[in-house]
Amino acid sequence: MPRLSLVVPVYNEAANVPALVQGVEAAFNKAGQGQAWEMIIVDDNSPDGTAEVARAIAATNRQLRVIKRIGRRGLSSAVMEGFLSSSAPYVAVMDGDGQHDEALLPTMLERLENGADAVVASRYVKGGSAAGLSNGLRQALSALGTKMTVIVLNVKTSDPMSGFFAIRRPLAEQAATALRGRGFKVLVDILARVPRSTQLVEVPLVFRNRLHGESKLGPRVFLEALVQLSLLLFKRLQQKKQ
Ligand code: GDD
Ligand code: MN
Repeated sequence: MPRLSLVVPVYNEAANVPALVQGVEAAFNKAGQGQAWEMIIVDDNSPDGTAEVARAIAATNRQLRVIKRIGRRGLSSAVMEGFLSSSAPYVAVMDGDGQHDEALLPTMLERLENGADAVVASRYVKGGSAAGLSNGLRQALSALGTKMTVIVLNVKTSDPMSGFFAIRRPLAEQAATALRGRGFKVLVDILARVPRSTQLVEVPLVFRNRLHGESKLGPRVFLEALVQLSLLLFKRLQQKKQ
């Protein structure tokens, strides 16, 4: 049975799916861990036929499953649905557009099996890079949002907005009821609910450029997140004063 359930949320990623599956397969094979993983692709009825492309591959690959949701949208809820549809002791999330380096996966699993509770692929540690963010504005917003999140939520990671992480199943599941479906801050929402004693480790991630297509998270989503964080930060500072 797989030890890692890798969940990949996808929306209009038909052109990226074949390379995604091949890349993950090759990474685990190279590490001598060919049977360690399963992949659950969660698609929200993409008009470009992503689910059909994924299904065609799944028909010849027992390590791949596809969930196609109708009438629903949302990165966070897609991720959680993938977690809840699987049963390996460890779960991971990765983007389906080629921006996340799948070669890190075997190491992330190894770190969990050696005692870590969660492993974050971070763009903001030595050896990592956020250069793959589409433009300078996004890079600046991301860096600012990250700093604020770390302060406001007092989380123990340098990259709380990373969409690439692996974690022990129970820690992910206990956040299920609290996740905001439409949000994209899956990791933040999970880390806000884990015990203080949680052992979190980081591996450097060089965030790549998208293979095909374009980002689904527009600048509006990021500005909204920033406003939300600013309000939280303001509240926290007020509380400190009293
Ligand atoms: N099922 C589903 N439903 N998948 C979605 C949806 C949705 O509504 N929206 C986006 N996705 C999928 C995309 O197809 C992709 O595989 C992944 O989620 C990430 O979406 P992108 O549109 O590529 O996001 P991004 O590259 O702009 O943002 C990335 O970096 C952010 C931090 O800078 C993501 O990793 C974010 O999670 C991360 O916070
Ligand atoms: Mn992306």
